[in-house]
Amino acid sequence: MTSLDVRSIGAAVTAALRTVDANLAEFGPHYPDDTTIGDRYPLRPSNVGWTTSFWPGMIWLAHELTGEERYGRAAAAHVAGFAERVHGRVDIATHDLGFLYTLSCVVPWRRSGDETARGAALAAADHLLTRVHEQAGIIQAWGDLQDPAQRGRTIIDSLMNTPLLFWATRVTGDERYADAARRHVFQLRDHIIRADGTTFHTFYWDPVTGAPLRGETEQGNADDSCWARGQAWGIYGFTLNYRHTGDRTLLDTARRCADRFLSRLPADEVAYWDLIFGDGSGEERDSSAAAIAVGGLHELAAATGEPAYSSAADRILASLIAGYAAGDDSNALLLHGVYDKPKGVGVDEGNLWGDYFYLEALTRATRPGWSAPWLPEEH
Ligand code: GLY
Repeated sequence: MTSLDVRSIGAAVTAALRTVDANLAEFGPHYPDDTTIGDRYPLRPSNVGWTTSFWPGMIWLAHELTGEERYGRAAAAHVAGFAERVHGRVDIATHDLGFLYTLSCVVPWRRSGDETARGAALAAADHLLTRVHEQAGIIQAWGDLQDPAQRGRTIIDSLMNTPLLFWATRVTGDERYADAARRHVFQLRDHIIRADGTTFHTFYWDPVTGAPLRGETEQGNADDSCWARGQAWGIYGFTLNYRHTGDRTLLDTARRCADRFLSRLPADEVAYWDLIFGDGSGEERDSSAAAIAVGGLHELAAATGEPAYSSAADRILASLIAGYAAGDDSNALLLHGVYDKPKGVGVDEGNLWGDYFYLEALTRATRPGWSAPWLPEEH
């Protein structure tokens, strides 16, 4: 077991900031792709997809870690492009508007009262509301609302996106956002987690009758296995939604996700990409699931008052620093993630969300008072 010590955290922060600095020069106003290819990010042609906000999110974390204004200016420079994207309706048929607009726009709105950022984040929340299937009380994950393959389908990752709706209610006083978020989250609590504490990646509802139908995977090994990153989103997401609602059943659900996740960790505590795999399987780890879990476990420890979850998070972070952090030959922060093994995309590569949540984990380790952007402001 690797232990977390001040020196290794300091060295990891220094290395991560060196990469952020190099990437600021290399990327300019552009966005890196979802994952690296051969451990280096290619640039994407425009601001599309679900992951672009992790880049300004990382720059905001660099600002938090250093207090240097140049990071604040570089991160704030992305607001205009995100505003253009949502107002121009470019690739926004997704639940992932929460990831996109919390990091790119809610953060600068909170820091400086940037009205363009506020307007863009509210437009994103409004668009999320258009994805609600009223009868089922869920927010559709992907694609056209009439597409038979996607109609009525939800995804565990969406638990990270509902905080945008709670934020929208707080800044406008309009309860429609929070109501939609609450209904959606309660449906996930009741159906996306199995009796043994594992989770489905996605779950379908009949949008006409509202009946829950079936769980299916998209990126996991099988419909009845447990995709590791989904389980990590569950730990973090159910805890956040507990913070936004005060509903203790959500905290209990987060705890069940965490206990199952921790029970399936291999010797070095970095999960394989699906929790059915263990040491000796020959399968890849998903370092991004580990990085997300670190944040979720810390939030869970804070919410439950159980330090064992923080200790587990520290062990995972120590292992990431020791065995998964990238060297100077990569422009990622964290190597050995898996985006989508069944489709062969981003397998054993760095990825933007892994980098973001790794830097989030380093920020938590360095600045104990830091509050995650997905939380209500008073936390
Ligand atoms: N939110 C998509 C993923 O985790 O791959």
